[in-house]
Amino acid sequence: MFVNALKVNYLRNLVNVDASFHAPLVIFSGLNGSGKTSLLEALYFLGYGRSFQSRLLNRIVHYGQPGLSVFGEVCTDQHALALQVGIAKSLHEPSQIRLNGKTIMNASELALHMPMQLIHPESFHLLTGGSQARRQFLDWGLFHVEPQFHALWQKSQRLVLQRNAALRSEAPDDMVMLWDQTWVGIAETIDTMRRAYVDSFLEIYAQVADTLQFQLPVELHYHRGWSEEQDLASLLKQQLAKDRTRHYTYSGPQRADIIIKLAGVPVADALSRGQQKLLLMVLFLTQAQLLYQRAKKKSCYLLDDILAEFDPTRRQQILQSLTQLSSQVFLTTPDLSQLGDLAQLGAYQLFHVEQGVVREHEGYALSDLSAAAG
Ligand SMILES: Nc1ncnc2c1ncn2[C@@H]1O[C@H](COP(=O)(O)OP(=O)(O)OP(=O)(O)O)[C@@H](O)[C@H]1O
Ligand SMILES: [Mg+2]
Repeated sequence: MFVNALKVNYLRNLVNVDASFHAPLVIFSGLNGSGKTSLLEALYFLGYGRSFQSRLLNRIVHYGQPGLSVFGEVCTDQHALALQVGIAKSLHEPSQIRLNGKTIMNASELALHMPMQLIHPESFHLLTGGSQARRQFLDWGLFHVEPQFHALWQKSQRLVLQRNAALRSEAPDDMVMLWDQTWVGIAETIDTMRRAYVDSFLEIYAQVADTLQFQLPVELHYHRGWSEEQDLASLLKQQLAKDRTRHYTYSGPQRADIIIKLAGVPVADALSRGQQKLLLMVLFLTQAQLLYQRAKKKSCYLLDDILAEFDPTRRQQILQSLTQLSSQVFLTTPDLSQLGDLAQLGAYQLFHVEQGVVREHEGYALSDLSAAAG
């Protein structure tokens, strides 16, 4: 996918932004608080119909305004024609998402057309946090490459919730196990899909790690959410009494994870901050390559201030890998000197952001670097 145009009204300090994009690398540069992350937030709205920063709309809408709007023209990999995406979020009225002039009810329709990958300071959660973030990472890929996955996943989630409610209301065993009959088959299909996906992921991972010169022998293991030695049906039966005291279902695909370790130690404890960040890049770039191989979809990258903490050599390697992705990359930086020699980046556009106003630097020359950074 490729975002050709973006219009934003009243999203945080972005009162009226109108920008066109034609280069694969788009850089937003500006001082702290100028509106760079808010621009990524606006782009994220196009792919997800929501913010990645807050669930509270009144935090995102420009102070004193009744709502915000984001409009984008997006060229997807499946459509020769550009899609027009319009999002209107109001504090007092129902929100609206429009795709080519038609109202759509479900934001997942946006996501299907527009695979977007966000890497921002909280992405560390993928390595340091609980299993949910890793499951979401894995399922994001499956959502894009396995057309049946999303519906199966939704069904499984629903069945777990119903089962948990039955456990909490102390429903008889027969009734709890009634959910299990339907659920087990779905859970096993989800496991098969996830396992195959992780296998393909690992094949590409090695190549990407090599390109980014991430040489630590990190091991990634898929854990399906229940023991490899036992089938789910008998495990659920065996654990029923304990599930009753826990009030939730302990085993199943809702507990799946990707265990990431170095020499048996979780990477959160074994890697430095810079190394963790590099590993994150490797994981996200692997995901993008897999998506392209399996579904011919090119992800769009939203990279929020990711270059800080890398040494200059690494920065150059990362920038080079990003420009070779043939995906569109939006990158924010408060410090243009982090990008090194811009002339080596290939085709790029540079936008300077100042108090919510976005201005493109045309005919950008290296000698302008320090002036623009200031
Ligand atoms: N609801 C709102 N209405 C108006 N302005 C807001 C609102 N919420 C936040 N802001 C302001 O909008 C700006 C948002 O900045 P943003 O996070 O995009 O900055 P940034 O350029 O990414 O900065 P940094 O380099 O520090 O990450 C800040 O100045 C913030 O104070
Ligand atoms: Mg920011």
